[in-house]
Amino acid sequence: MIEEAAKLLARSRFAIAFTGAGISAESGVPTFRGFNGLWKRYRPEELATPEAFRRDPYLVWSFYKWRMDLIRKARPNRAHYALAELEKMDILKAVITQNVDDLHRGAGTRNLIELHGNIFRVRCTSCDYRENLKESGRMGEFLQDKELPKCPKCGSLLRPDVVWFGEPLPRKELEEAFKLAERADLILVIGTSGVVYPAAYIPQIVKETGGKVIEINPEESGITPIADVFLRCPAGEAMEKLMDRIGRLL
Ligand code: OAD
Ligand code: ZN
Repeated sequence: MIEEAAKLLARSRFAIAFTGAGISAESGVPTFRGFNGLWKRYRPEELATPEAFRRDPYLVWSFYKWRMDLIRKARPNRAHYALAELEKMDILKAVITQNVDDLHRGAGTRNLIELHGNIFRVRCTSCDYRENLKESGRMGEFLQDKELPKCPKCGSLLRPDVVWFGEPLPRKELEEAFKLAERADLILVIGTSGVVYPAAYIPQIVKETGGKVIEINPEESGITPIADVFLRCPAGEAMEKLMDRIGRLL
């Protein structure tokens, strides 16, 4: 199976990757569904919808600050690094992620499309103010502040710059992702349950336009029925083996 996946990747002309929470599981970032998933312990409609934020911004902000604090301590794992390496080798052309954790960027991936936003970014609920707390160096101060975060420009409430249930995905990113999927002759799908739309269309588009689908996941997912190769394995181990085989093929 690994051999077959390595051959397909090495021979591909325009390969892309599509990732979900599972790729960051080995970095200590909790996934949403499945064993120990966040949506097992919490209800998404109380924490990750615009209605929840209107009803109880304190609760929603405390959930996001908790995750921001957890994620800022996480480091990319060997699967994130392997994808960055494949891009350097000019095999992988882009990484499309549903993750908000910034770990692909941390590993050095350059052509990164974040479909669901980024947990380190905040934006104003009224004006066009946006801030990346990693870049502004205000994260420590932000996390410690017990008050609701306010916009420095207009004083309105700030919100996490992530996509909540019931909200549209950022248009530019979604268009770019669909374009890449139409062009790709191979997609490496790693660590996603493949049940959240429109993101889950991406591997389907690759398949329908004649591309190959390689999936890495220790469990079956919504993508497994269309996978040409299914590596039933955690991301780190699978990517390490895959990189080893590719190295020998080239
Ligand atoms: P999920 O939590 O739904 O799925 C995580 C997947 O990762 C599951 O299929 C697991 O089997 C798999 N997995 C677990 N450990 C793994 C490992 N070590 N290596 C590889 N795979 C592993 O996460 P997503 O599919 O990313 O959206 O969820 C999609 C969206 O739903 C998220 O972006 C988020 C969520 O609610 C929003 O918040 C809008
Ligand atoms: Zn504002």
